[in-house]
Amino acid sequence: MKVGIIGASGYTGSELLRLLALHPKAEVVAATSRQLAGEPIWKLHRFLKGFYDLKFVEPDLKNLDECDVVFTAVPHGEAMRYVPQLLEVGIKVVDLSADYRLDKETYEKVYGKKHEGYRDAVYGLTELHRDEIAKADLVANPGCYPTGAILAVAPIAENAEIIVFDAKSGISGAGAKPTEFTHYPNLHEAIVPYKVTNHRHYWEMVRELSRFNPEVRVSFTPQVFPGSRGILTNAHVFMNDVPSRDELYEIYERFYRDCYFVRLQDEIRLSWVRGSNFCDIAIFVDEQNGRVVVSSAIDNLVKGASGQAIQNMNVMFGLDEKTGLEFPPLFP
Ligand SMILES: NC(=O)c1ccc[n+]([C@@H]2O[C@H](COP(=O)([O-])OP(=O)(O)OC[C@H]3O[C@@H](n4cnc5c(N)ncnc54)[C@H](OP(=O)(O)O)[C@@H]3O)[C@@H](O)[C@H]2O)c1
Repeated sequence: MKVGIIGASGYTGSELLRLLALHPKAEVVAATSRQLAGEPIWKLHRFLKGFYDLKFVEPDLKNLDECDVVFTAVPHGEAMRYVPQLLEVGIKVVDLSADYRLDKETYEKVYGKKHEGYRDAVYGLTELHRDEIAKADLVANPGCYPTGAILAVAPIAENAEIIVFDAKSGISGAGAKPTEFTHYPNLHEAIVPYKVTNHRHYWEMVRELSRFNPEVRVSFTPQVFPGSRGILTNAHVFMNDVPSRDELYEIYERFYRDCYFVRLQDEIRLSWVRGSNFCDIAIFVDEQNGRVVVSSAIDNLVKGASGQAIQNMNVMFGLDEKTGLEFPPLFP
């Protein structure tokens, strides 16, 4: 497969380049940057020196026309400029932005802008939508927080009354451009709650979880910790009849039996998934309060973005979803 990446100068774009460098069936033939068009990729991404001879190109259709698939790794509101044009000439798209994750009306309300180029897309949480992804031309890759959160609770969401997600993300979730929020002295030795009751990813979580249980009440508190990668989610699931810990592990094992990238553990650490496409899950029971605590750990740039995007590409092209992604995490 010939692959294009729009937004290859950013964090998810460079992570796509890193992961695709060793993919046996995919070759990156176009990588865009408006700032650096004409420059060799390694001049920006020094860690990739020796892996690519490519130069950055402008994000014009003529530079992408030999691609079978394009990843749009650009901010929300920008992907919609490219996606319809790409689909029109028969190029499949995995969009890493939020532009195609919600229905049009909810998107316009939540993101506060008109959607110029809406298309129906399949929500690319591979473990839950594999069959639809296999037939799709356009996959909306999930947000990083929703990936860890939804995978943590999907097997028991049907019987949940209330789900409280408490999630902590590394700083790369905010993209490559530094801001006052991500400035070192403002985050160093700090854990910072932000958008405490109004983060946009909430809507993706509700949309997916209501497929299992339209009555469930969801809340979500995002925080940033001073590390580069990773999202640790503690999902507090309140239910009337709490199964035992053993029963819960059985339920999860059954639900995820064909899901190589979901690993059940007794406990989790971000350092056990770093750099990999795994989502690790551990389950704890608080009988007294009718509460199950499900903890999940992902690397936000891999399972939370570029790794899952490649997993989706593999499924769209009829490959084993593990292709190019079957490597262990980086520890310590
Ligand atoms: N970071 C994460 O952990 C994460 C996880 C899941 C999803 N996402 C989503 O993935 C997308 C990319 O995130 P990121 O963290 O990689 O962001 P980023 O580091 O800020 O990179 C985005 C890149 O998009 C390019 N770009 C911006 N506007 C463009 C336009 N109009 N046309 C073409 N290229 C444009 C920029 O490159 P040039 O200026 O060089 O052209 C920039 O380097 C976002 O929608 C984000 O929400 C991010």
